[in-house]
Amino acid sequence: MRMTIRFLVPLLLVLIGIAWATTPLLHELMQRWFRTDVEMRSQLVFDAVQDTVVRLAKDSAGSQIDAVFQRIAQDERLLAVGLCTPDGRLIHHSATWPRALGCPTGSKDGAVATPVIKVEPLNAGTVLSAAFALNDEGIWLGDLVIVHDLSFIERRSAKAAHYLTIFLAALGLLIAALTMIVARLTLRGWVRAVRQGLTPGEIGVTPDHKPDPEIARLVGEMREMLRDLDVPRGISEAIRVDWTPDTLRNLLKSELPGAEVIVVSNREPYIHNREGDRVQVQRPASGLVTALEPITRACGGTWIAHGSGSADAETVDRQDRIQVPPEAPAYTLRRIWLSDAEQEGYYYGLANEGLWPLCHIVFVRPTFRASDWDQYVAVNRKFADAVVAEAQSPNPVVLVQDYHFALLPQMVRERLPGATIITFWHIPWPNPEVFGICPWREEILQGLLGSTILGFHTQFHCLNFLDSVDRFLECRIDREQSIVRTSGRSTLVRPYPISIEWPPAALVGQPPVTECRVKVRQDYDLDPEVLLAVGVERFDYTKGIADRFRAVEDLLVSHPEWIGRFTLLQIAAPTRSSLPAYLQTQAEAEAVAHAVNQRFGRPGWLPIVLVPRHHDPEQVFTLFRAADLCLVSSLHDGMNLVAKEFVAARDDDGGVLVLSSFAGVSRELLEALIVNPYDSHAMGEAIHRGLLMPREQQRERMHLMRVLVSEHNIYFWAGRMLLTAARLRKRERIEDQIVQVTSPFFRRRRDNR
Ligand code: G6P
Repeated sequence: MRMTIRFLVPLLLVLIGIAWATTPLLHELMQRWFRTDVEMRSQLVFDAVQDTVVRLAKDSAGSQIDAVFQRIAQDERLLAVGLCTPDGRLIHHSATWPRALGCPTGSKDGAVATPVIKVEPLNAGTVLSAAFALNDEGIWLGDLVIVHDLSFIERRSAKAAHYLTIFLAALGLLIAALTMIVARLTLRGWVRAVRQGLTPGEIGVTPDHKPDPEIARLVGEMREMLRDLDVPRGISEAIRVDWTPDTLRNLLKSELPGAEVIVVSNREPYIHNREGDRVQVQRPASGLVTALEPITRACGGTWIAHGSGSADAETVDRQDRIQVPPEAPAYTLRRIWLSDAEQEGYYYGLANEGLWPLCHIVFVRPTFRASDWDQYVAVNRKFADAVVAEAQSPNPVVLVQDYHFALLPQMVRERLPGATIITFWHIPWPNPEVFGICPWREEILQGLLGSTILGFHTQFHCLNFLDSVDRFLECRIDREQSIVRTSGRSTLVRPYPISIEWPPAALVGQPPVTECRVKVRQDYDLDPEVLLAVGVERFDYTKGIADRFRAVEDLLVSHPEWIGRFTLLQIAAPTRSSLPAYLQTQAEAEAVAHAVNQRFGRPGWLPIVLVPRHHDPEQVFTLFRAADLCLVSSLHDGMNLVAKEFVAARDDDGGVLVLSSFAGVSRELLEALIVNPYDSHAMGEAIHRGLLMPREQQRERMHLMRVLVSEHNIYFWAGRMLLTAARLRKRERIEDQIVQVTSPFFRRRRDNR
């Protein structure tokens, strides 16, 4: 429409200008034509009546002359006829003779054959008088004066100008309509050709004709520009970049200038708890928080999370906001309050009794209740409302975390269509057969597809997701690009293995490894000479805690030489304790530990020391540094950051990692001793090998793992996602510009985005 107006208005202005400029000319021309016409008519009238008038004049038949004049004057345009004497007196005239009009004087003598023409304005309008000499055998009798009314010329030329304007306007509209139709058809073909050129091999689009060489050249240039946008990804993967908070900050500044970052997660990074008359700040034991917190510190912005601490409400301002970290505020934490019913249905119910076991497949049956689903929908909406309320711009970068918010991406997308929504699913994604048992599978998939980018830890989980979408939704999947297209928009599904900050903050101020060994053995009342394995977990049934205790039992059975010389120190933070499956996990682990200790323990030595309480990151790092071996035996895990933290803690390149093959991290830390946690004998053997591993081999393995984690740290994880987001944003902007230039008509109908 804008284009039509832009084209039509100038065209009409030009045509109006033409009409305006040509009107005086037209008027002039018409004057001339009609005057010549009137003069000719005067001549004709004179020729017709000349003889009659001469005869009547000679006969002095005055009344007959008047009658003849009266008849002649009846002609529509002929105003009057009169007879003047040679000395200029009007002696006969028709009744219509204008009073103000006199006889032409001093004109000529009777010998002149051409009439004397005069144009003069009178009250009634302009008149033209033609005075013809009347001669009788060489004697000049006087002049026959024929008077024409010229006002009709004015009328006709005004009418002609009017018609000319209408004609030009109609012509203008016709030209405009024809031009628009031709332009539209041409542009349609042109845009199609450009689109085909830009997305070769796209499903459902096959080039049906060879494009015009001009278009082919343009498409080539556009492809070049779009390819340039892929360079940052190439660079980030090909060139060794030191990923630090500064790299991330600079990347945000250069690639996403002015972008507003909003993080959404269930768990908050800082929990304020009231203990007596003091308020304690706690950092939760959550891989998600461990990963996201340093990034948010680097990027600034707002983190929206559930305020779950007993002193949370009293520490926020009136907008429920608080600046964190408490010691050096760098970003805003916006707390959302949940009622007990919401917490029960959304968090414990749907998220942790439904989706958690559904995605982990560790043979704990998922439970789905409609009432939990209702709360899940309501809480997702509540958080989506908060995202919209916190957003200062129409296109923030929203980082949505985990299985608590499967519906939120689409809810935000509906209200902030320009937002770049990066959703990260921190846990595994099951195969379609397993996912299919969820009663709200379509809603969950659709909600997630509101994201611009959907990230998983591994390619395997991405493929499972694409298979689930394929099985349960109507949409187009481009498997090569890993893109799902639905409802006119696209979601990029990519693996982004999560990591930890490097160097880790918890490492700062740690005593040397030798001191840590002594300290931990003292703190936990262990023999100073004992070889120590550590396990650090939330008390979750996915972590295989009881399984590793069984492995210790197997170890001691197969290799009794370790009795009295080896201990497993297991730290386990209680979690989701109101759920029966978690209580059972803890009870089972405690029972197995107790049984193993009963069977092999001696005065002053236990094979398993189980400490079921939360430890701060610094305490955990001291444990890692004191250990000879770290045991990660998850039965299924998206990534498992404990393994990476152990590696990060060992700046002495010492220690052995025994790692479950069912944790995503086993795809990266290939130098660990990889085991099947369901096979307690194999795990026992791995512990045995680890305890005996020569120092040199430990160093080689640990060094390689440290290089990997240091390079692929949490800033690398976030940086890659943000670079992809920046690339998509730029691509979208270029596509917008292309569409704007090539076809404003089709802008609204753009699909495939
Ligand atoms: C682990 C998982 C995360 C999850 C978090 C929730 O860290 O890897 O995906 O979000 O647990 O723990 P929470 O204690 O908040 O339920």
